[in-house]
Amino acid sequence: MNRTFPRPQHAALALAMLLVLALAGCTAQRRLSDAELGLTPAQARGRRVFDNNCARCHQPYSSRGLHGPSLQGVYKKEFLPSGRPANDQRITETILHGRDKMPAFGDSLTTEQIDTLLSYLKTL
Ligand code: HEC
Repeated sequence: MNRTFPRPQHAALALAMLLVLALAGCTAQRRLSDAELGLTPAQARGRRVFDNNCARCHQPYSSRGLHGPSLQGVYKKEFLPSGRPANDQRITETILHGRDKMPAFGDSLTTEQIDTLLSYLKTL
């Protein structure tokens, strides 16, 4: 028997493992649709506001920080990273006036956009 050639079963196993790894990588990276996330139309509009204004600095679905702290589960925790209570009032203030290295959005976002944004943040 020639031992230098790998057995076909081994090749099949290696292929299967590669496939599993590739699939696992894809699910970790893939962006879920609004429907998959179960977002209402208002929350989906808030997601667009987030994508266009916040996503470059904040991760919505990962606990890793970017240029600012992760916003995963921001409303599910009692406190914001700064230690202030995680509620509409404090988060709206942060968005309107900015904070430290975070820019202010008071001049660029409408009240309606901020409302939908908050409704989206509550789904995180
Ligand atoms: C240029 C980067 C940048 C952008 C864009 C940005 N942020 Fe931030 N954000 C930060 C940084 C940096 C902090 C941490 C500030 C600090 O030191 O307290 C922060 C903090 C926060 C906090 C936590 C405040 C606290 O009290 O701990 C919230 C909530 C937040 N951002 C929401 C948003 C939302 C919503 C948007 C989009 C409208 C946004 N950010 C856009 C950089 C950014």
